[in-house]
Amino acid sequence: MVFGIIGCGRLGICLAVFLSRQGFEAKAFSSKHLESAKTACEFVGTGRVYEDPVDVAKSCPIVFITTPDTVIESVCERIASKNGFQKDAMVFHLSGALSSSILVSAKSNMAHVGSIHPLQSFAPYETGQESPFKGINISIEGDAAAVELGKEIVNALKANFFTIPTDAKTVYHAAAVVASNYLVTVEHFALQLLKAADISEENAYEILEPLIMGTLGNIKARGSIDALTGPVARGDDEIVSRHLVDIDKKLPQFSSLYRLLGSHTLDIAKQQGQITPDAVKKLSTLFTS
Ligand SMILES: NC(=O)c1ccc[n+]([C@@H]2O[C@H](COP(=O)([O-])OP(=O)(O)OC[C@H]3O[C@@H](n4cnc5c(N)ncnc54)[C@H](OP(=O)(O)O)[C@@H]3O)[C@@H](O)[C@H]2O)c1
Repeated sequence: MVFGIIGCGRLGICLAVFLSRQGFEAKAFSSKHLESAKTACEFVGTGRVYEDPVDVAKSCPIVFITTPDTVIESVCERIASKNGFQKDAMVFHLSGALSSSILVSAKSNMAHVGSIHPLQSFAPYETGQESPFKGINISIEGDAAAVELGKEIVNALKANFFTIPTDAKTVYHAAAVVASNYLVTVEHFALQLLKAADISEENAYEILEPLIMGTLGNIKARGSIDALTGPVARGDDEIVSRHLVDIDKKLPQFSSLYRLLGSHTLDIAKQQGQITPDAVKKLSTLFTS
């Protein structure tokens, strides 16, 4: 199957290199700067370079728009306005935050649209490197034909796919942000508390690491409801009250975060079903104080 790449950066080059080793043929490349397209073409060893992305679309039945998110839609619109997509072409982007709906203009050329999002961070491609796609998880959404081809592409890359509805793309991306970025925020909060306990920054993470990893292991083994332990799960309002006194005094910038997280943790404790109604009431009062 023949494909073209528009936007020869980190992901565009990696995709072209590793897909072309699995029976797909890279035929055309274009980018904002011609040099990037030439570099991609050299890494892959096949295909030709075009100044205009319209020519890439005209020559390929599969088109990956791997530009920055901010220009995917306008690049697609420009190609569609010139009837650049082949009839029944498969047009994909690889953004996590945006759905295939931003490629709707390609449908006026009778093309299919989808998005394929690797849940992984990609560095610039280096010759001889291992495939960064192997074993990772990749979401697919789009119209039926695009989703089917998306599955073939992900299988060829030796990654794992899962499909989501197009209108769920935003909450799916929010899940990734919460799981990764907001975990950093919570751990940063914990590290600041250890600093206030006179523990040096060099030692702080290592002290917490077994606890963090053990908790992740419990979530994996038992799910996020049953994994919860600690004072909120036990309904120990006295301990929580002491935490609040010290945090309000020593790290007031984290007071509202502690209360908000505590309040959501209380919801989990209620679902666990061990906590008494009296403890729920007392903790709830503390978290809203
Ligand atoms: N990198 C990651 O970790 C990662 C992970 C998951 C998903 N993604 C998604 O993958 C897509 C590409 O991201 P990336 O990290 O590979 O970005 P990147 O390294 O910045 O590469 C984007 C490339 O697009 C080119 N470009 C910019 N404007 C263009 C235009 N108007 N027309 C044609 N080409 C244009 C740039 O070209 P020049 O080099 O020619 O200036 C650049 O090389 C995005 O949708 C991103 O959300 C990235």
